[in-house]
Amino acid sequence: MGKSYPVVSDEYLKAVEKAKRKLRGFIAEKTCAPLMLRLAWHSAGTYDVVSKTGGPFGTIRNQAELAHGANNGLDIAVRLLEPIKAQFPILTYADFYQLAGVVAVEITGGPEIPFHPGREDKPEPPVEGRLPDATKGCDHLRDVFGHMGLSDQDIVALSGGHTLGRCHKERSGFEGAWTPNPLIFDNSYFKELLSGDKEGLLQLASDKALLTDPVFRPLVEKYAAVRTLVLNDEEAFFADYTEAHLKLSELGYALKFLENLLRLEERSCGSIKTRF
Ligand code: HEM
Repeated sequence: MGKSYPVVSDEYLKAVEKAKRKLRGFIAEKTCAPLMLRLAWHSAGTYDVVSKTGGPFGTIRNQAELAHGANNGLDIAVRLLEPIKAQFPILTYADFYQLAGVVAVEITGGPEIPFHPGREDKPEPPVEGRLPDATKGCDHLRDVFGHMGLSDQDIVALSGGHTLGRCHKERSGFEGAWTPNPLIFDNSYFKELLSGDKEGLLQLASDKALLTDPVFRPLVEKYAAVRTLVLNDEEAFFADYTEAHLKLSELGYALKFLENLLRLEERSCGSIKTRF
């Protein structure tokens, strides 16, 4: 079933395009794509599908949320983005942070993820403890991503985000990159995962867990393209990653077509007020 998005003004759309160009240059110059992807993900990944709280609504810039243990170091991302955001007062932080995540993937060689503007900034930060713990395994991953409303396939595809960046001792307590090329978005995360521990590289317990599960492991193999004849064929990973990243970036945001119709109907009857 299709999704339905809020309508934004032409002025807003122009600002999105311009901000995208600025972000491309800025993120490339500062080589901060990994940090920007982590910011977008931690911003969205707090969504709880049952209470419909949390999610990609700009709250991560608040001190209270930045102080969550899982967000160590993301104050740097928020601070780095501030001068660019100041050039686009019309944009919400909610849209701006998700745009930065999409640009981070794109400029490092990853897929182009569709972006639908119109998220609102919400006042209330989510409660702490909704993001995954790197020391835990499959049950925990399913629990955490399940609360977001995401699937097994989304878990594995999104874990491929670790193709970018590294762990910093002073932020998470872990140290090291997952791949030898942490500024390139490709399927090397899955190849490294399958090839086991290697001097100088890192695999968290939550990464290794993907190898032990009967549903997760075949997806790791598919994304590593071990069974295809074409070397470095990333098509499968890029397709599923795009789908999962899009879902993540729109948690609690776009309404399903039918839900939207119902709301519109209710609104036209004057029973509730919505922004649609
Ligand atoms: C599956 C559960 C996950 C766990 C347990 C996890 C855990 C972690 C940890 C511990 C770090 C190190 C932070 C630091 O020390 O700087 C990290 C970094 C990172 N994570 Fe994840 N993560 C998960 C999922 C994801 C997802 C879904 C994405 C994006 C799609 C993602 C993208 C990143 C990126 C890009 C970095 C590198 C940041 C940098 O270099 O500054 N992670 N993650």
